[in-house]
Amino acid sequence: MPEPVLSIRGLRKAFGAHVVLGGIDLDIAVGSIVGLLGPNGSGKSTLLDTVTGFVPKDAGRIELDGRAIESLDPGAISRRGLVRTFQLPRMPARMSVREVMLAAERSGSGLADALLGRRAPSALAVDGLLERLLLTPVAEQPASAISGGQKKLLSIAMALANRPRLLCLDEPTAGVHPNLRQEIMALLRDANAQGVTLVVVEHDMAFIRGLCPRCVVLDRGELIADCAPDDLADHPRVVEAYLGRAGARAARKAA
Ligand SMILES: Nc1ncnc2c1ncn2[C@@H]1O[C@H](COP(=O)(O)OP(=O)(O)O)[C@@H](O)[C@H]1O
Ligand SMILES: [Mg+2]
Repeated sequence: MPEPVLSIRGLRKAFGAHVVLGGIDLDIAVGSIVGLLGPNGSGKSTLLDTVTGFVPKDAGRIELDGRAIESLDPGAISRRGLVRTFQLPRMPARMSVREVMLAAERSGSGLADALLGRRAPSALAVDGLLERLLLTPVAEQPASAISGGQKKLLSIAMALANRPRLLCLDEPTAGVHPNLRQEIMALLRDANAQGVTLVVVEHDMAFIRGLCPRCVVLDRGELIADCAPDDLADHPRVVEAYLGRAGARAARKAA
């Protein structure tokens, strides 16, 4: 495997007696796109939360580009290039969509780049991202007042404006109009072509197939599969995780 941008070893997290991550080992190759799947409650968001420093882990080692990040806070982790989006994005109440984007662009050093003359002024990049995600018509509205799907799009645009090297997306298309899913996929592909490694939590299998050559599946705190999306349907533990034992037996009989 090419050099991992992210390396996770023995990652454990429990909420009380409920073990949500039971010792996860996972490497994400630099430049890759990896789908992170699993039934509801299997620990996908908790995995992103612990890796990005939003939730303290119980044990384990997490390295970004070979350097330990497990003692860093979320802001420091983001400045090192590991950025994430949330399943339910929250937006500041008093800022417009455009202001939120400009703030994200500035915190990602876009302004410094612009001042140093390395690229066009950041407002242009912000306008381009807003246009591409069909957010131009709501650009002057409060970010907290747009629809759930639009917040999702805005959160992806904000994350990209931060110039991540590794971007983890938690259900990027949930609640987004189906017409826009292709646009999100194209945007993520472009980001990847420019060198951004992606980890995508997603339930839409067409989206996963279209974007991710590799996917890993979580179930009850364990990684139970690591394969191409097309091989998932033949994976007994994956079928069982989604359908339960009885369902898996029924599916085998029907096949
Ligand atoms: N802060 C929390 N306190 C207690 N239990 C939690 C907390 N966050 C998540 N959980 C539990 O951990 C399990 C995994 O949740 P989550 O990581 O959100 O799953 P997924 O994203 O795969 O749907 C669920 O059973 C959930 O109820
Ligand atoms: Mg989740």
